[in-house]
Amino acid sequence: TGGRPRKVTEEELAKHCTQGDCWMIVHDKVYNVSAYMEYHPGGELELMRGAGTDATPLFTEIHPWVNYESMLRTCLVGQFVGSRTKLR
Ligand code: HEM
Repeated sequence: TGGRPRKVTEEELAKHCTQGDCWMIVHDKVYNVSAYMEYHPGGELELMRGAGTDATPLFTEIHPWVNYESMLRTCLVGQFVGSRTKLR
């Protein structure tokens, strides 16, 4: 929290894949959604589908209108530097 956004590799992203420690990519940024988890209107299990990986396809399919950048401003971890096409 508070630090400047940094670079996140695929390997590091994949480690944060539990409900209490959950990171995901939405577009080109990595967010730590752990604190938002219990407030997600679609439920925790739905949000967990993107845990530790690229949530962009699901996010865009379900609710492209959601203003995630504003909602997750304080949850920003950094820029993803790996290859999104290689993620599950
Ligand atoms: C609603 C799934 C990521 C914010 C929903 C709903 C689903 C869903 C199924 C519909 C709930 C309903 O109407 O019954 C997912 C999945 C995600 C994801 C699979 C990623 C793996 C996110 C993220 C955010 C977010 C990253 C914001 C930071 C919302 C909001 C709604 C919602 C605001 C209510 C939208 C509305 O009613 O217009 N989500 N979500 N979701 N989600 Fe997500």
